[in-house]
Amino acid sequence: MVSKRAAEVVVAGLKSEQITGAALRQKAMNVLSELPGYDWCGIYVLNEGELSLAEFVGAPTEHTLIPVGRGVCGTAVAEDRNQIVGDVTKSDNYLACSIDTKSEIVVLIRRNGNVVGQIDIDSHSTNAFDNTDEQLLQQVADILAAHWE
Ligand code: SME
Repeated sequence: MVSKRAAEVVVAGLKSEQITGAALRQKAMNVLSELPGYDWCGIYVLNEGELSLAEFVGAPTEHTLIPVGRGVCGTAVAEDRNQIVGDVTKSDNYLACSIDTKSEIVVLIRRNGNVVGQIDIDSHSTNAFDNTDEQLLQQVADILAAHWE
């Protein structure tokens, strides 16, 4: 759950940036990581059936390459829809990045209708994310898509 005000500040800040591509994606992860409960924030880029970790803020993860269909991240691409997992311990298709992670949200990034990547956020709290977070991250995904390179 993110407040309307905090979401507006994030979106307005990113829209005012003059940077693009990787620099904008890193900036977005930096800004998102300041929000309460946003304990790991990263971008995975989709390349030929595989998700590849790009810009992120948080603890390093061993899951730098994730095949489509695997984990919460790969499921988002396989099912072509965003994912919200309230309790990762109850998910049987979850790739653990950290024992501290309790909940996760994945929002797809689309350019011209094609998925090019995703925003993945992990929280140390259960049920940290709802549709307010999905709406914020969808706006961020659209900004990143518009300035992808
Ligand atoms: N938990 C993800 C893997 C990526 S880490 O959260 C950074 C998954 O199940 O796909």
